[in-house]
Amino acid sequence: MPKVFVTRRIPEPAETLLNERHYAVTINPYDRVLTARELGESVVGADAILSLLTDRVDGTLMDAAGAQLKVIANYAVGYDNIDLAAAKTRGIAVTNTPGVLTEAVAEHAFALLMACARRIPESDAFTRAGSYTGWAPMLLMGSEVHEKVLGIVGLGRIGSALAKKAVQGFDMKVLYHDVKPNAEFETSFGAGYRELPALLREADFVSIHVPLVEATRHLIGEQQLHMMKKTAYLINTSRGPVIDEAALVRALRERWIAGAGLDVFEYEPKLSEGLATLANAVLTPHTASATLETRSAMARIAAENIIAVLEGKGPLNPVTVS
Ligand code: DGY
Repeated sequence: MPKVFVTRRIPEPAETLLNERHYAVTINPYDRVLTARELGESVVGADAILSLLTDRVDGTLMDAAGAQLKVIANYAVGYDNIDLAAAKTRGIAVTNTPGVLTEAVAEHAFALLMACARRIPESDAFTRAGSYTGWAPMLLMGSEVHEKVLGIVGLGRIGSALAKKAVQGFDMKVLYHDVKPNAEFETSFGAGYRELPALLREADFVSIHVPLVEATRHLIGEQQLHMMKKTAYLINTSRGPVIDEAALVRALRERWIAGAGLDVFEYEPKLSEGLATLANAVLTPHTASATLETRSAMARIAAENIIAVLEGKGPLNPVTVS
């Protein structure tokens, strides 16, 4: 009977689907991330590991599991927590959960954008604190979103879904940057391709949607933040290390830019010194995909990938070294 180790309890239907196949399923019994040592001990003998983005899955862990390990199904679309080269060398399939979190993450990016522009968390705190003593002409003035320029960095599924909401819902003008231009996208949304510096100079809102790889680590640093308009906002729902967070804290404090909406952090779950005290930063705890619909769909896909590999059909959503 194949053994499956699930590194943390995830929503249904994952457990049901795996149990229906009569696999020996073990789930991390604690409601926390396992330490590297606990993880190493837990995966011994596993044919499949259902991992989370908070687990470091490297060659050492794969070897701890043993030569029978066939598949690592990551419960995320991102897979920067997995050493793909180590998996390839060992003939282990790695899978992710693409597609199903597109709308949830794009919605969250837009929510952060709106929250920054209209100063929603600040206004909420102000009102709850009893500071609202009467309507005032200059009280908590924000910036309008309608017809502003949205710069999308990374035009994958999520970036494209965000563009649709921005253009169709808010008449925004879309600029984008990616490794190559996309003529169809440009026609559909009246979007313009820009090199990164030009996009940063022109956009009122910059939203990041790139995967974390060596080339995108600190893609946005001090130099890039200085290129942005002083009135612009930076939104990140991708991976924290894409932004040099220490530089961002300086940019927000010294008002090189107007604000930032962040769902991911460079040293998550830790926040860089000073970030939490800045009123022009809107922060959420990596919850962009946290809707019941999406997290359940991610669970189903992760389980289906395990089943497909263990039944010898090959992975449904393989990720490989590029
Ligand atoms: C992912 O799937 O990579 C997301 O970051 C999870 O929220």
